[in-house]
Amino acid sequence: MELNNILPTIIAQPQLHARWLNTLSLMENTGARKISASEDPVTVTYIILKHAAEEHRHAFYLKKQIEKVQEDLCPTYAGEYLLAPAYSKYYLNQLDVDVCRYLKKELKLTGSELRFAAYLLVTYAIEVRADELYPVYQEALDNVGSKVNVKSIILEEEGHLEEMINQLQKFSPEWELHAQKAVDIETRLFGQWVEALSTSLA
Ligand SMILES: [Fe+2]
Ligand SMILES: [Fe+2]
Repeated sequence: MELNNILPTIIAQPQLHARWLNTLSLMENTGARKISASEDPVTVTYIILKHAAEEHRHAFYLKKQIEKVQEDLCPTYAGEYLLAPAYSKYYLNQLDVDVCRYLKKELKLTGSELRFAAYLLVTYAIEVRADELYPVYQEALDNVGSKVNVKSIILEEEGHLEEMINQLQKFSPEWELHAQKAVDIETRLFGQWVEALSTSLA
């Protein structure tokens, strides 16, 4: 099952569309909180602060888009207001767990080094995904003339991917190998998430 096959079904029904937006908001918020949690209180940089701020904005912005679908839908991240709630929460956490396991095993990293490397790889994989997912969603919105739009998120996510590549290049000369590993892990988890979404619609 591909995401572009289920999006028209979701967008056509206000209840489902609101829960989809709320689910994306939850995932952006989870990502933002992970970035903030991985910040070193002393060595945190301009680029990391900017990134955390923008991911928090995405969570808020998606929540705000729900008003365009229908007022008073999905006030919180409680399961009843999400699509595939269990898996949507599992996806990012498991990505983090699997990437940390890889870094411990392959690079023998621990402590703050492990935290920083995991931030780089997990965020890179998410940015690759975001650069694919949001344009597909925007196209589905355009196809039906929806008032909802995610163009400002698309612009910022493109910047994030470049910023992650810059940081990864400084992290390791073999960054592409590690980044590909993170993308492989993410691709498997994302496929399972889309399956969980389509099951929840059935
Ligand atoms: Fe984002
Ligand atoms: Fe991002």
